[in-house]
Amino acid sequence: MKDPMFSDAHLQKLDALRKRYPKSKPLVLPALWMAQEQFGWISPEVMKYVAGLLDLPVSHVYGVVTFYTMFNTKPVGKYHVQVCTNVSCMLRGGDRLLAETCSRLKIRPGETTGDERITVTGVECLGSCGTAPAVQINDDYHENLSPEKLETLLNELR
Ligand code: FES
Repeated sequence: MKDPMFSDAHLQKLDALRKRYPKSKPLVLPALWMAQEQFGWISPEVMKYVAGLLDLPVSHVYGVVTFYTMFNTKPVGKYHVQVCTNVSCMLRGGDRLLAETCSRLKIRPGETTGDERITVTGVECLGSCGTAPAVQINDDYHENLSPEKLETLLNELR
């Protein structure tokens, strides 16, 4: 596998952030977001790359990646469907949404369909409790969902 390397746009963005933050640690989160945007997930090689860019120990970067569940530590499909199963969503059917979606796609939570199109993950609060149950598909939120509405959304994904 080729060594990971940020695009010019990401390197420029990181340089701009360095001017605002004199120390490297505050740059870990934005650098990891850029890495996930570019590579799709944070592999051990990407952790090493980010640590090198920021002159930090790999263990520090690893600690951040594994603390925040929104960083993918394994490859995900073209569409990452994150179903909230925290309290508000659970009370409004989030668990059922996750179970029925996985059953329909013949995968378990955290798995990806055989064609690598869809990964379904059960996640903690998405910060959209007032419109539970909530689901995030890539960067988009979908709220007040039923299993049928989510099925329609998934059928519309290209
Ligand atoms: S509990 Fe689901 S968005 Fe907050």
